[in-house]
Amino acid sequence: MKDNTGHTVREAFSSNLGFLLAAIGAAVGLGNIWRFSYMAYANGGGAFLVPYFIALFSAGIPLLILEYGLGHRAKASAPLAFAKIHRRWEWLGWWMPVFVMFGIMFYYQVVIGWCANFTVFSFTLAWGGDSQDFFLKQYLGLTKGPGELGGLRWPIVAATALMWGATWMIVYQEVHRGIERACKIFMPILLVTTLILVGWGLTLPGAAAGIQYYLKPNWAKLQDYKVWMAAYGQIFFTLSVAFGIMIAYASYLPKKSDLVKNAWITSLTNCLHSFLAGFAVFAVLGYLSYAKGLPIDQVITSGPTLAFVVFPEAISKLPFLREVFGILFFSALMIAGLSSGVSIVEALTCALRDKFGISRNWVVTVLCLIGLFGSLIFTTGGGLYWLDIVDHFLNQYGLVLCGLLECLVIGYVLKAGVLRSHVNSSARVKMTVAWDWIIKYLTPAILAGMLLRSLYSELAKGYQGYSLSALLGIGVTWLLATLAAALMLSVYPWDPVRLQAEHRPEADALFR
Ligand code: ALA
Repeated sequence: MKDNTGHTVREAFSSNLGFLLAAIGAAVGLGNIWRFSYMAYANGGGAFLVPYFIALFSAGIPLLILEYGLGHRAKASAPLAFAKIHRRWEWLGWWMPVFVMFGIMFYYQVVIGWCANFTVFSFTLAWGGDSQDFFLKQYLGLTKGPGELGGLRWPIVAATALMWGATWMIVYQEVHRGIERACKIFMPILLVTTLILVGWGLTLPGAAAGIQYYLKPNWAKLQDYKVWMAAYGQIFFTLSVAFGIMIAYASYLPKKSDLVKNAWITSLTNCLHSFLAGFAVFAVLGYLSYAKGLPIDQVITSGPTLAFVVFPEAISKLPFLREVFGILFFSALMIAGLSSGVSIVEALTCALRDKFGISRNWVVTVLCLIGLFGSLIFTTGGGLYWLDIVDHFLNQYGLVLCGLLECLVIGYVLKAGVLRSHVNSSARVKMTVAWDWIIKYLTPAILAGMLLRSLYSELAKGYQGYSLSALLGIGVTWLLATLAAALMLSVYPWDPVRLQAEHRPEADALFR
């Protein structure tokens, strides 16, 4: 976009509401229902909620304020924002959007594709009487392990390609036309469908027992570091913190924006939505426990398959409107996923455009094509294992490590007080020095402690019974490959002349 003097003007959201809807759209995604439900179930229901909310306040919200402040102050995507602090840290600004786009997004689109397929299956309740068998065997064609891929599953490939097409169409347009407009439509639909699902779930027989399991804290479980690690990983995932997204989105905000208020609204709306959606999931689990005569924690095997087995099974048992509920549930999940998916592509698009000055259309088209190609591995019969391993490593190590490094760079290199003054300059309720302490000491100490504990345990015992070669060959290699790509991107020189031409005052600071 050019102004009337012929200079390039940075794209912007049309209003703060437009920004908020886009940021909430980025945060509220598959993570709120699909990932939250299996994380909560696997970690003891109510036992998970306590660390989840502690993680929200001790890391999620402070880091979201940090990311909004960083993007807004630099008016730049993550790499340029970090390069501006010190060129040595540019790689961190690349690593986040790179491993999210070339890792998380690859499988994320496949899961949205599953939702699209299940929306269609709902018309005929195609899963029949055994939803587990249908999902794992007939639909996924699940093989014996990650080493056996078993060929592409064409319905999944087709749905995934469709989702990449939809993402491409939205991100292809400038933010205020594409992402902002899509979120203004998606978000209200999602809220209404979630409310309907919760209302319906609560009327099921056995729902009360499910809700009790969900809400009753299990203090003994809090001694298990794995529950904490899962909760922090989930908070990063669900708020899209350390994705590079929120830095990019805040860079499109007008100068006078209340970033503190925006961060609170985004994170509380997101987590309350997850909490609300949890009522639907656990009500249904309670219902299944009642119908099968099994204790809730044994109703189903937990994992990424949970939503696709539990909900179809519960829907089949409904006395009426089964097809309608199926369509509602899976299309709501699909919508939530799409609005987050577009934000992931946008984060890297914004970064690549900042650095190389390439046109939006070109970057988005290439990224979506690479994305579709990269997603293919997750559409094979062994794809679910790959998803599980990649998700575990990228979230519990990648996101948490990047969050930790962000705190250290802002806390000690830029100085937390500098960013706090910027954020406070337009905030109605100002942050105190307590935020500096959280960013400098509390959050890094918690994240570092958990990372080390988890690494120690997984080196000794592995993860979910996968072989060491699968974990190293898939999870660790994936992280390291994206790190190498980030390092390469960061050593490529900036073009100061172009940055100047784009009215970037920060270019001076960067190349002086
Ligand atoms: N924050 C997004 C989600 O929860 C990625 O799905």
